[in-house]
Amino acid sequence: LKSKNDVDAKLQEVCELLKKEVTHYDWVGFYFKNGDKEELKLGPYAGAPTDHTVIPFGKGICGQVAVSNQNFVVPDVKAQDNYIACSITVKSEIVVPLFVNGKNIGQIDIDSNTLDPFTEDDERFLEFVNCEVAKIL
Ligand code: SME
Repeated sequence: LKSKNDVDAKLQEVCELLKKEVTHYDWVGFYFKNGDKEELKLGPYAGAPTDHTVIPFGKGICGQVAVSNQNFVVPDVKAQDNYIACSITVKSEIVVPLFVNGKNIGQIDIDSNTLDPFTEDDERFLEFVNCEVAKIL
């Protein structure tokens, strides 16, 4: 059985590495389904602290991905009405669900201060990251 501290330390490293190495990744974090509740809870992250540590299913980009089980690329956050702003510097966002045994158990969430920076390469790369993360959970 893996300890939550060990897993969180590894996820923290993943967040910091991605933020440092990818120029257009300005905030990188993991949200996880909170037990039996219809909500997401913030896990390890790198970047500015956020007030949104709990997000109900359906709310914001993250809450929508919890329900849709699909990648959500937002080139311009201003064009989204179901969006939760964490920082005024954020211009775009990508959220990719994290599957364990075919079940959506959380997601990686990335904010960028650049407008429209995310391509299909980011989607494929973050899907790969999540597959690797799923192995250590
Ligand atoms: N913008 C997200 C909320 C989480 S912050 O980006 C860290 C959303 O709309 O769900």
